Amino acid sequence: MTPTTLFVCSLCQFSAQERSRDGIAGGQYLINHLQQALAERDLQATVHLEPLRCMAGCQQPCNVSLAAPGKLTFILSGVSPENGATTVAEFCQQYTDSTNGRVPFSDRTPEIRRATAFVLPPLPTP
Ligand code: FES
Repeated sequence: MTPTTLFVCSLCQFSAQERSRDGIAGGQYLINHLQQALAERDLQATVHLEPLRCMAGCQQPCNVSLAAPGKLTFILSGVSPENGATTVAEFCQQYTDSTNGRVPFSDRTPEIRRATAFVLPPLPTP
């Protein structure tokens, strides 16, 4: 299976009014729950979770990107720190199961449809 990278901004806030909760930023909260959600789907060996410190989408927390060689890159914005882990993990499953990252729009959850900000083509290969 193609190794996949899930980038997640660890510094995103919970909302405009709530930067952090008990000292944990919304992005880190999402990361903590994503680790568990990926493990429940047995994806921890396939999907490398890579925390980043700001993805320049601070006005739309939380920000996430899913990428793999030869596949589309998805950039998701406005992922809920509290409820986003399960749906992002499900999307990771659909993405890793696909050959080129083209998860049909009709197969995506409403949360993923709503959060999809950009879809980029695979990088050209030499
Ligand atoms: S703090 Fe998350 S994108 Fe800037």
